[in-house]
Amino acid sequence: MARKPRIGILGTGNMALALGKSFMAAGHFVAFGSRRPETKNDFHDSVGHESRIWGYQAAIDAGEIVIITVPYKDVAATARKFAESLRTKIVIDITNPFAAQPNNGDSGAQVTASIIGEGARVIAAFKTNFAATFENPVDSTGKPREVHYAGDDEAAMEVVAELIRGIGFTPIECGTLAEAVALDHMVPLMIRLDTTEHSAQHLSSWRITPG
Ligand SMILES: NC(=O)c1ccc[n+]([C@@H]2O[C@H](COP(=O)([O-])OP(=O)(O)OC[C@H]3O[C@@H](n4cnc5c(N)ncnc54)[C@H](OP(=O)(O)O)[C@@H]3O)[C@@H](O)[C@H]2O)c1
Repeated sequence: MARKPRIGILGTGNMALALGKSFMAAGHFVAFGSRRPETKNDFHDSVGHESRIWGYQAAIDAGEIVIITVPYKDVAATARKFAESLRTKIVIDITNPFAAQPNNGDSGAQVTASIIGEGARVIAAFKTNFAATFENPVDSTGKPREVHYAGDDEAAMEVVAELIRGIGFTPIECGTLAEAVALDHMVPLMIRLDTTEHSAQHLSSWRITPG
């Protein structure tokens, strides 16, 4: 069987934990990047003792795929600081702009790609999945949950689709990086519907159903 791509995850919050555990369970090498790796003992305990928690640069260097899981307000500075290295990777942007949505109609992931610069291979994914759902990729109806993903690089899109399948979810292709603006807008709606329909448990997920 082909070796699974190595993954660097920038951040050590809820989504880093959820994604990291999923990818480690699926057999990927995962390195987490933290601003203060020496303070992350609790995270280390939560994610598993085989986990590596390094600085951001070391986590980027270690991954063939790099997942940005920092708050949206910190994405631009992170992308700028590590642009040269990120340009050589497939970058998955999971971050949600909410009120900081670019007002020119661009998606958050387009902004990330433009900061990384010429040659950036950025895919928007996992924006519309609550962290708590990664424990159960199959929902209460018995079907795998869906992960929306969008981007401009065909080969990178296929790699990300395979990553999504590998952790038990169904990849749903949602178009170009420009079209990922729809995913940005789905997130506030998702939180609202999760609250009004499902008591804000953050266990719901989107599904497109056949007619
Ligand atoms: N929570 C969800 O269900 C969910 C779902 C989909 C997408 N998202 C998106 O995923 C991203 C992460 O969400 P999260 O819930 O995992 O957030 P979180 O728990 O707050 O974690 C964010 C991580 O980013 C790093 N970071 C870097 N710069 C930071 C700064 N200036 N302030 C705070 N943290 C900073 C921190 O890691 P270090 O301290 O180790 O550097 C921190 O652990 C967000 O952009 C969010 O919109 C979240």
